[in-house]
Amino acid sequence: MSALNSIYFFLAFVPLLALGSPRLEDRNVLGGTIGLGDIADQAYLVSATIGNSTVTLQLDTYHADLLVISDACQAAACAAVSGQRYTPSASFVKLYDDAPFLQPGVGIEDVSEGRVGRDTVTIAGLTMDSQVIGVVDNINATSPLWQRAVGNLGLGFPLASILEDYAITVAKGVDITEVTYDWVIGNTSDSGPVIPRLSQTGAIERPMFSITLQRDTVDVSGAGQLTIGELPAGIDNASITWVPVRLYDLTQDPDQAPPSAPNEKAYPFFWEVPLDAIFLDGEKLTQSPSAGNVTALISTSTPYVNGSADVVTALLNKVSSRTLPTLPCDTPHNLTFQIGGKLFPVDPRDFASQAAPGDAKTCVANVGPTDGSADDTVALWTWVLGTPFLKSNLAAFYYGNLTHPSVDPPRVGLMSLVPQNASALLGDAVKEAQSAGGSLESTTQAAPTASSLITGVPTATIPGRKPSVASASPSGSANAAASPRFAAFTGGTLGITPCVMLALLSLSVCML
Ligand SMILES: *[C@@H]1O[C@H](CO)[C@@H](O)[C@H](O)[C@H]1NC(C)=O
Ligand SMILES: *[C@@H]1O[C@H](CO)[C@@H](O)[C@H](O)[C@H]1NC(C)=O
Ligand SMILES: *[C@@H]1O[C@H](CO)[C@@H](O)[C@H](O)[C@H]1NC(C)=O
Ligand SMILES: *[C@@H]1O[C@H](CO)[C@@H](O)[C@H](O)[C@H]1NC(C)=O
Ligand SMILES: *[C@@H]1O[C@H](CO)[C@@H](O)[C@H](O)[C@H]1NC(C)=O
Ligand SMILES: *[C@@H]1O[C@H](CO)[C@@H](O)[C@H](O)[C@H]1NC(C)=O
Ligand SMILES: *[C@@H]1O[C@H](CO)[C@@H](O)[C@H](O)[C@H]1NC(C)=O
Ligand SMILES: *[C@@H]1O[C@H](CO)[C@@H](O)[C@H](O)[C@H]1NC(C)=O
Ligand SMILES: *[C@@H]1O[C@H](CO)[C@@H](O)[C@H](O)[C@H]1NC(C)=O
Repeated sequence: MSALNSIYFFLAFVPLLALGSPRLEDRNVLGGTIGLGDIADQAYLVSATIGNSTVTLQLDTYHADLLVISDACQAAACAAVSGQRYTPSASFVKLYDDAPFLQPGVGIEDVSEGRVGRDTVTIAGLTMDSQVIGVVDNINATSPLWQRAVGNLGLGFPLASILEDYAITVAKGVDITEVTYDWVIGNTSDSGPVIPRLSQTGAIERPMFSITLQRDTVDVSGAGQLTIGELPAGIDNASITWVPVRLYDLTQDPDQAPPSAPNEKAYPFFWEVPLDAIFLDGEKLTQSPSAGNVTALISTSTPYVNGSADVVTALLNKVSSRTLPTLPCDTPHNLTFQIGGKLFPVDPRDFASQAAPGDAKTCVANVGPTDGSADDTVALWTWVLGTPFLKSNLAAFYYGNLTHPSVDPPRVGLMSLVPQNASALLGDAVKEAQSAGGSLESTTQAAPTASSLITGVPTATIPGRKPSVASASPSGSANAAASPRFAAFTGGTLGITPCVMLALLSLSVCML
C-alpha cells in the first residue's frame, strides 16, 4: 500500500471503525445529546434503543420509570400504537412476571399486563447495561400516552421509581411492601432510573440533564434537545437561575430513616421547585395557599400550565369571559412566573392554542386548574409547569448527590428563551394563518435517532453548596409527614411502606 493509499485508507475507514467499535474510554465522554420529536406540542418524544429495538418514548420528568410496549401485546389498543415496539432480545433478563403495578388503576393508566426485566438501554449515545425496564404486554384503553408513543422515559428521582422497588424485591426475596427507602437509595447505581445510574457510575460528567422544547404550533420555531451530563453547548452557567428542589423528610418514620447516611434527613422525590409569585399582564396574582411556600412540578408530559383552582379561575376570568377559556388568538398575554427571584414569562405564543380547526381567530388558554388527581398522591405541589412553560424556558435538572443530598443538593436551573418581540411574532403568525385558510401552524416531528456524544476534558468538580435542610426545602421543615397528603399513610397501619406507597400513588395518578 502506497503512503497515499494508506492515507486514503485511514480517512475512509478509521472514522467507520471508530463508529463501529467506539472505545469510549479513550474519548473522555462527558455526556450525550439528542434531538426531540414533538406531536403538535402535545407530547415530546425521544428515541432510545432497548436491547436491539429502537423505540420512541415520551419524555416524562414526572415519573421515574422506563416503560415500553412489547411485541407480545395483542390488544386492539396496542395495535393502534404506531411505531416500533420492544422485542425482548438475547440481552433481556426477566425479573418479574405480571407485575401488579402494571394493573389498571394502580400503575400507569390502562396497563393490564406487564413484566419487569433488565436490558441494555442507549439514550443520547450513552449506554447503560442491565437497566430495569417495565415491559407492557397488554393495554386495554387509550390513555393519551399510548396514542403518542410506545413507551415512557421517566426522568424523575429514584425514590419515585417503582421498578427499582421490584428489582430490590427480587434480589432480596422479600415482599415489595418491605422495601425501605434506604435500600432504594443504596441500590440506585444498580437498579435506579437510567440517568441517576449514568450519574452514579461516573459515565457522565455531571449528574444532570437539560431540556429545550421546540414549538410546533402557532409559530413553528426553536430546537428540541435532550442533553445528558451537561448544559446544552454554548449555554453559560452564569445565565442560569438555579433553585433548590423540594426535599421530603424521611426521618418522620424511624424505621425508614436511612441508616447508611445517618446525617441525611431529607431526599428529593420530584422535580418540584418553589414559586415566588405569578403575574398576568403585569399584575401580581394572589397566591394560594396564602400560607406561602407554593411549589411547582416541572413536567415535560403536561401540555398545560395547571394551578390551584382559585388562582386559575381569577387568571382565566381576566383573559376570557367564557367557561371554556376562549380568547382572541392575536391578543398577546404575558403570564410570568417568578422563581428564584427572577422572572420567567410564558411566551405569548405558548399561552393559548387554536380552539377549533379552520378558525385562527379563537384560541383557548393552555391554563387550567390542577385536575384533582394530585390530591390522591403525596405530591405537595400546587402548580404544574408543563410544556407551555418549557417551550419558553430552557430547564436544567441537576440530581446532585443522590445518596447524600446535603453534600450536593438537587436543583433546577432555568433560562428564559422568550424573544423581546414575542408579541409581534404572535401577531404575525395569527395574521398569516388568517390569510392562509384560517389555521394556525401545527406540525409533528418524529424523534430523530441521530445523537452525539459530548467529549472533552472534564472540568474540575465544583463542590456543591451545603445549605441546611431548611433552606434547601421550600416547605421549611420539609416535614413530609406533617402534610395532609402524607398523613394518610403515616403511622404504619397500612402494611405498606411509605416508600412503596409513594411510588404506587405517584404512578397511580393519570399521566400528566
Ligand atoms: C432482536 O432480537 C430478537 C430476539 O433475540 C430477534 O427475534 C429479532 O429479530 C431481533 N431484531 C433485530 C431488529 O435485530
Ligand atoms: C381494562 O380491563 C380491566 C380488566 O378486564 C377492566 O376492569 C377495566 O375496566 C378495563 N379498562 C378499560 C378502560 O376498558
Ligand atoms: C440493596 O438492596 C438490597 C436488597 O435487595 C439490600 O439488602 C442492600 O442493603 C441494598 N444495598 C444498599 C447499598 O443499600
Ligand atoms: C453553576 O452555578 C451554580 C451557582 O449558581 C453552582 O452551584 C454550580 O456549581 C455551577 N455549575 C457549573 C457547572 O459550573
Ligand atoms: C411580562 O410581565 C413581567 C412581570 O410583570 C414584566 O416584568 C415583563 O416586562 C413583561 N414582559 C413583556 C414583554 O411585557
Ligand atoms: C390541566 O388543565 C387542563 C385544562 O383544564 C386539564 O385538561 C388537565 O387535565 C389539567 N392537568 C393537570 C395535570 O391538572
Ligand atoms: C456523595 O457524598 C458522599 C458523602 O460525602 C460521598 O461519599 C459520595 O462519594 C458522593 N457520591 C457521589 C456520586 O459523588
Ligand atoms: C423579531 O426579532 C427578530 C430578531 O431580532 C427579527 O429577526 C424579526 O424580524 C422580528 N420579528 C417581528 C415580527 O418583529
Ligand atoms: C415556609 O418556609 C419558611 C422557610 O423557608 C418556613 O419558616 C415556614 O414555616 C414555611 N411555611 C409553611 C406553611 O410551611
